[in-house]
Amino acid sequence: MASTSEIACAAELLKDGKLVAFATETVYGLGADATNADAVASVFEAKGRPRFNPLIIHVSDVRAARKIVKFTKQAEELAEQFWPGALTLVLPRTESCKVSYLAGAGLNTLAVRAPSKKKTNQFLKQVGVPVAAPSANKSGMVSPTEASHVSEVFGNQISMVLDGGPCTIGVESTVLDLTGSNPVILRHGGVTFEEIKLVTANVNQSSQSNPNIASPGMLLNHYATVAPLRLCIKKVFKDEALLAFGKNIPEHNGPMLNLSADSNLREAAANLFGMMRQLDKLNPRAIATMPIPKIGLGAAINDRLKRAASY
Ligand code: TXA
Ligand code: MG
Repeated sequence: MASTSEIACAAELLKDGKLVAFATETVYGLGADATNADAVASVFEAKGRPRFNPLIIHVSDVRAARKIVKFTKQAEELAEQFWPGALTLVLPRTESCKVSYLAGAGLNTLAVRAPSKKKTNQFLKQVGVPVAAPSANKSGMVSPTEASHVSEVFGNQISMVLDGGPCTIGVESTVLDLTGSNPVILRHGGVTFEEIKLVTANVNQSSQSNPNIASPGMLLNHYATVAPLRLCIKKVFKDEALLAFGKNIPEHNGPMLNLSADSNLREAAANLFGMMRQLDKLNPRAIATMPIPKIGLGAAINDRLKRAASY
């Protein structure tokens, strides 16, 4: 089990942009500073995720949660009853929310929870920033419920595993969407439908809800740019905005942002959602995006662009 000095060390590493795995009552999480897009990009890289799913943002308590999402009365009641614990609440981002758009896969909402392990709570308090953490396993593999499961798979790909002992629940948290007129369970998990119903009578189970699906596929369409996207362009047309990559930029007089002038895919992933939003705000006729290599994080970047383009 992690000592006080190990917790302090883990907190420093995380604040420094490193990846730290930590125990929760559900499964071990692979954590990164949620406000640091580059650190969040390394989570996707380490997991080998072929696409960007929105990640759960971990906080120490309700007060910390209120800084990043807009709490409703219903959210207050549910948090009062189930936090710290295995219930994740999906709520709209606050205006001042500093969580990177990559962590939320470009959505206007965030999934937030306060895990209940004592050492993890100390860690989150010391970190002081929201922590984005998917389960600490490679994409498509079984979720880890002991510290050794994590170190066996990731080795020195991550900076530290904060050992909090075995996870008592062993399945992921329940994800509850509070952004619609009625609360909807998007993923079944540690807190049951029946338990939630006792607090919030009007809760529904999503028809897409399936404990085996890591992310309801629909979600990624919630945020698409208003402007149409043109992919893999070689030429930019009049009134288009350009989302560039690398150095060989086609001739263009209009607005342009470069995902990574050095052709660095991690930097490009970190910039992707923020830059799509920035260009979209300028109301261009279309957003022309340059080709991006399909290797490493490039696969996830291409996946997201394709989804946004087909929406
Ligand atoms: O128990 C858990 O929840 C573990 C531990 C580490 O806390 N974490 C976890 O995180 O399972 P992750 O990132 O693997 O799961 C994210 C889930 C996905 O089902 C995703 O679709 C949903 O949360 N989610 C995240 N952000 C969302 C959002 N803004 N709207 C709707 N669903 C969201
Ligand atoms: Mg998972």
